[in-house]
Amino acid sequence: MSSNLIDAPVRAMLVLGTRPEAIKLAPVARAMAASPLFEPVVVTTGQHREMLHQMLDLLQVRERTELDVMRERQELSTLTARLVDGLGEIIRAQRPDLVIVQGDTTTALTGALAAFYEHVPVAHVEAGLRTGVLDNPFPEELNRRLIGRVARWHFAPTPRAAAHLVAEGVAASEVFTTGNTVIDNLLWVLDRGTGRSHFGSTALRRVLLTLHRRENQGDTMRGMGRAIRRLADRGDVEILLPLHKSPAVRDALLPELTGHPRVRVVEPLGYLDFSATLAACDLVLTDSGGIQEEAPSLGKPALVLRTTTERPEAVEAGAARLVGTMPDVILAAVERLLDDPAEYERMAGAGNPFGDGNATERIIAQLAEDFGADADAPPVEARLPEGPGSYSTT
Ligand code: UD1
Ligand code: UDP
Repeated sequence: MSSNLIDAPVRAMLVLGTRPEAIKLAPVARAMAASPLFEPVVVTTGQHREMLHQMLDLLQVRERTELDVMRERQELSTLTARLVDGLGEIIRAQRPDLVIVQGDTTTALTGALAAFYEHVPVAHVEAGLRTGVLDNPFPEELNRRLIGRVARWHFAPTPRAAAHLVAEGVAASEVFTTGNTVIDNLLWVLDRGTGRSHFGSTALRRVLLTLHRRENQGDTMRGMGRAIRRLADRGDVEILLPLHKSPAVRDALLPELTGHPRVRVVEPLGYLDFSATLAACDLVLTDSGGIQEEAPSLGKPALVLRTTTERPEAVEAGAARLVGTMPDVILAAVERLLDDPAEYERMAGAGNPFGDGNATERIIAQLAEDFGADADAPPVEARLPEGPGSYSTT
């Protein structure tokens, strides 16, 4: 290391607890582990258990600190309280130079809050997504707005997300448009080519389905399940549902979808297999956030089974359609896509508005610069970068 670099790597604590956080922070962890400028410290909260463990190989880190907070059907308030408590203790003990959180989960919110209480600056990956409806998705829209008040670095995936933050009063100098790290990871995984599709080898049209959102659970999700069953009754489609582990999701969907010869319900897939399965499908029905970003990258039309989306870029590009949660409307939208080749081709060819696969590089370069860890920067005394909204003593 040359003499104008800081004398120790920047200790970046990555806090993650759910499947999508692991997927989207994995390229950041990998790049930091490969860089002499950073020492990534991974903390897993255990908000998800099986679905997180499936993803940990993507991070390629040997050691991590683990909390074990998952309890079946746990209330959000209990989960939140236990996470703030547990993460506060870990941050106090390990004193990282910064904490990195991703997205809008309870893990991300509590990671940011616990870091703030310990005067550790926060970087927010996938910042600035908004539906504009405080309780939809619930509770994620509130979570990401709150993280936006706490963070020192806001890594926005798109210009629109960056604009939301600036409109809310975040200093433009703290907002960086990077693309979404989900694309970095998807390209990395597909490049390895080791996943396998879980569709059968039939000539049927292949529909990949995922559902899990809290605001859809209960009657709405049961209605969606019935719509999917009617879709399968058409006879020319095979529907594959990797089923979220959430008991509330299983309660709603299993009674509606079990036992149909053309609906295959499987346990959640590891990321290598899931991305191969996505690449093999004809179309996607989902209420997932990440899948709305991945499907356009692979040229797969996505019908979004929600009433709002914080990812309107895909809808505007023509790669996704927001079809809502009403069974008849869902069915009509899928049938149109299946039966109208021109409509299908339009959506499949619309392209991906979520980045070029280099989001991680931009994030790391910015952090390196702000910590004085880049080759051209003058040496820094203190680790805490100052700036509007940062942790200066004024
Ligand atoms: C959470 C996130 C949501 C994200 C989703 C990704 C919050 C508030 N919500 O959804 O933003 O889109 O994860 O999937 O943070 N469970 C298991 N094993 C697992 C995972 C979950 O048994 O591997 C069960 C547990 O009983 C848990 C329940 O599923 O209580 C629901 O998990 P939870 O993290 O609360 O999921 P969501 O809030 O629905
Ligand atoms: N995913 C996966 N296996 C599955 C289903 C999804 O690896 O069986 C991946 C998917 O590729 C995407 C992420 O999980 O990157 C989405 O997670 P989820 O839908 O649970 O959360 P959200 O993105 O809605 O927060």
